Amino acid sequence: MKAVTLRETGKPPEIIEKEKPIPGEGEVLIKVHAAALNHRDVWIQLGQYANIKLPAVPGSDGAGVVAGVGAGVAESWQGKEVIIDPSTAWGENPRAQGRDFKILGMPEEGTLAEFVKVPAANVYPKPTHLNFEEAAALPLGGVTAYRVLFTRCGLKSGERVLVTGAGGGVALLALQFALAAGAEVWVTSGTAEKIEQAKQLGAKGGINYKTEDWGRKLKDQAGGFDVMIDSAGGEGFAQLVRIANPGARIGIYGRTAGIIKELNPAELFWKQISILGSTMGTAEDFARMAAFVSDKKIKPVIDKVYPLEDAAQAFRRMEEGKQFGKIVLRVQ
Ligand SMILES: NC(=O)c1ccc[n+]([C@@H]2O[C@H](COP(=O)([O-])OP(=O)(O)OC[C@H]3O[C@@H](n4cnc5c(N)ncnc54)[C@H](OP(=O)(O)O)[C@@H]3O)[C@@H](O)[C@H]2O)c1
Repeated sequence: MKAVTLRETGKPPEIIEKEKPIPGEGEVLIKVHAAALNHRDVWIQLGQYANIKLPAVPGSDGAGVVAGVGAGVAESWQGKEVIIDPSTAWGENPRAQGRDFKILGMPEEGTLAEFVKVPAANVYPKPTHLNFEEAAALPLGGVTAYRVLFTRCGLKSGERVLVTGAGGGVALLALQFALAAGAEVWVTSGTAEKIEQAKQLGAKGGINYKTEDWGRKLKDQAGGFDVMIDSAGGEGFAQLVRIANPGARIGIYGRTAGIIKELNPAELFWKQISILGSTMGTAEDFARMAAFVSDKKIKPVIDKVYPLEDAAQAFRRMEEGKQFGKIVLRVQ
């Protein structure tokens, strides 16, 4: 089978021929129809991720058809159209993953290949309103967005939400989920064009995070925020605290802009603000996310679809940050 491989950090991904995996006990083999990139794949390629083990077949997101079952797995899975939950071994504690937690796509071989094997417990029926490319765009971003918004920040209908860096894959899903839950949503983004695109999806407005004193300017337009979803950290984070309403929850799941400095403790305690770190999600978060997406008929926003052979171009597009939505690879 054809598979994308990262051999050395800092080098572009290559396409190689390798043996089709054989599903073991409790596993299924999936014929991948479409896969999607996450920033994680690019962090690994650039050598900026913890515990990198190469060579690796990257890819945490995929949708396809069950093409084989291992011992102990019901034959009825054969031929089913599925999406893959990329988290394994979360552990017993729903509040946080345990030490054995793993994400598909390094060290286990990932979805940027014609076939992938995963535990049967990690496959879910493909939402019927999504085609394979849309379905491939959902899993990792969807579970991350769902957990941070609902499980961690407890978003309620009618609350005012800010999603930062709205062009990002997870961020756009958070925007769509918050709107579907009845929230008023505002965004930040690095370009005026992406703010316009977010408004077309239903955001009320937004501001460029490169604008000086953007927090105060945004608060003048929108008022304060009840829930803020951030993947950047960095210098902008202190502004989130400043524009938070009393009792606000700030959910953070990424570190694109780096270390957070200059947080004023007084603003945190006086306004009773919660800062909630969040990573991926439990199997229950995933199942609830998939049900929510089916119920609300949410379609992930796709930035661009590349054939698997053009994986290197797809990685470059994500590294350059040009995307609005998910970057998808058509596999077969
Ligand atoms: N903890 C988890 O479970 C988890 C899961 C998924 C992702 N992540 C992390 O979350 C981050 C985003 O991942 P992704 O896959 O969604 O990546 P992505 O699609 O590449 O999105 C990154 C986005 O970050 C935004 N951004 C860049 N600089 C910013 C700044 N200074 N302030 C605010 N936003 C800024 C950009 O938004 P604009 O394009 O709008 O300018 C960009 O689109 C990464 O750090 C990733 O590692 C964590």
